[in-house]
Amino acid sequence: MRVIIVKNYEEMSKEGAKMVKELVIKKPNCVLGLATGSTPIGLYKELIRMHKEENLDFSQVITFNLDEYYGLSGDHPQSYRYFMDVNLFNEINIKKENTHVPDGKIPLDKIEEYCREYEEMIKKAGGIDLQILGIGGDGHIGFNEPGSSLSSRTRLVALDEQTIRDNSRFFEKIEDVPRFALTMGVGTILEAKEIILLANGVKKAEVVAKAIEGPVTSQITASALQLHPKVTVILDEEAASQLRRKEYYIFAHEAEKKINLKLF
Ligand code: PGA
Repeated sequence: MRVIIVKNYEEMSKEGAKMVKELVIKKPNCVLGLATGSTPIGLYKELIRMHKEENLDFSQVITFNLDEYYGLSGDHPQSYRYFMDVNLFNEINIKKENTHVPDGKIPLDKIEEYCREYEEMIKKAGGIDLQILGIGGDGHIGFNEPGSSLSSRTRLVALDEQTIRDNSRFFEKIEDVPRFALTMGVGTILEAKEIILLANGVKKAEVVAKAIEGPVTSQITASALQLHPKVTVILDEEAASQLRRKEYYIFAHEAEKKINLKLF
């Protein structure tokens, strides 16, 4: 696992965007796994800037988002489809038909089949080349709440109380936050060829330390990333503040810069 510690949110966003840019240049028809929430907004802003100022070309890129609130349609301002359109897709030259966000309006009796198809679509596209992740206050990746199987697949889940509270800041009142979501599973996420986990702010410090340096446990689903061979964690100083091995991560990152290789 590479752990890169940078000064602040802006640097975290730029570092993440740089990795996406390198991939899009090397493989113009790459498959990106995308996340929502406050964390990746700066990374998406930087990709938009790279598109507008440096002609970074997304015309062949395919994307799959991690999750969607169950019950919200794509035109609902709090839906993740809407979030992606506004914060990224509408501002770059990606083909809308190449962007995939789970459909939050699938009838209950069709969900199993739909989730299977979502996974099939990922496979048909060749699998996810690079997955971008945030981490929830409860340690979730996607909406894989504590207790999710570490080999779980795309499915319907009930949101944790903490997630509902955390995400209520985007809604008028807490009662408006959906109680269910569709999410890629931990097992689905672990099949990505490469993964970036972003975290910023002191509020994430404790859970980041548990995820990176604690035991692998379904109680902190981000800890499953320890099982993946190609994960880069990009943290600002606040989010890194409770790491025990901080000095080593800084040393290792300086060392890899000297040989111009990623050391996982
Ligand atoms: P946040 O959410 O980026 O809004 O903190 C992270 C997450 O829940 O994955």
